[in-house]
Amino acid sequence: MSDLKAQIQGIRDAFNQALGQVEGLKGLEELRNHYLGRKRGIIKDLLTDLRSAPKELRPELGQAVNRLKQAVEAGLSEKLEALKSNVSSSKEDGIDLTLPGIAPELGSLHPLNIVNRDLIRIFERMGYEVAGASEIETDFYNFEALGLTKDHPARDMQDTFYVSDEVVLRTHTSNVQIHLMQEKKPPFKAIMPGRVYRKDADITHSPMFHQVEGLVVGEDITFTDLKGTLEHFLKKLFGSDTKMRLRPSYFPFTEPSAEVDVTCIMCGGKGCRVCKNSGWLEILGAGMVDPVVFQNVGYDPETVSGFAFGLGVERVAMLKYGISDIRMFFDNDLRFLSQFN
Ligand code: DAH
Repeated sequence: MSDLKAQIQGIRDAFNQALGQVEGLKGLEELRNHYLGRKRGIIKDLLTDLRSAPKELRPELGQAVNRLKQAVEAGLSEKLEALKSNVSSSKEDGIDLTLPGIAPELGSLHPLNIVNRDLIRIFERMGYEVAGASEIETDFYNFEALGLTKDHPARDMQDTFYVSDEVVLRTHTSNVQIHLMQEKKPPFKAIMPGRVYRKDADITHSPMFHQVEGLVVGEDITFTDLKGTLEHFLKKLFGSDTKMRLRPSYFPFTEPSAEVDVTCIMCGGKGCRVCKNSGWLEILGAGMVDPVVFQNVGYDPETVSGFAFGLGVERVAMLKYGISDIRMFFDNDLRFLSQFN
């Protein structure tokens, strides 16, 4: 029955060749079924054939079939290990581990937060503390204590949301000045970021926006201190080539008051559409704290002096990033927001 022996050898050779060509787990499973399948596997057939072999040859042939079966099993499990550790060959399972992964989307800071943090950091480095107060405010803190008495015409400068006759949504961060001065003794320096509200909405105005207020109080604080501080601040914010100019202005809580301009950050001062060909951009309001305000918080205006300033965060962000519509900040469109990483 050397016939059967030759057949066994042939099967072994064919198996080894097929095994070498298997590329994935699916192919390996097919090969296993082909050789070891219980119903129609090749080895099962061999065992059936064995029954019709001459009796005296059966033990030897039986051993040969067993060795073949062991070799096939060993070959299959060796290949299985090899496939598992070889990532590139698992494509047949519908999973291709060599493909690039799906990266989690990373969030980013809102442009207003970026600018807000920049502003605060510049003043923190100059030793300013950060202070805040409520966005829902009494008429006293938002207006009266700042020199805006009930019938003061300057109240028209800010379109106010009234909660009641005596309670408003604060129209500026200047209310924090009053709280701070009531709580502290001079000297101190503080920067006060926060949300403010005005009944105003168009392409450059939003009913809710952000301001950063500054206040320095002590003895012998002069207009020169104000000028030097703002110049340093604006150079840090917009670059060291930035120039600053002060224009006389009016605020009920400062005297004298100034409107502060910087050289246009778009054209460097040559004149362009953004600065309406003037070369200058209005960036903040400032002044020496009005003695009336000191009186209102119980300070002695004869011994205490100080300066204050306030600026809009949206305005700075719009200029810095060249954004022409303020509503972009609040639309929550990720295509817009993810550009500021
Ligand atoms: N509160 C002013 C506004 O909202 C901005 C401002 C101007 C604040 C001058 C100040 C200041 O502290 O001194 O328009």
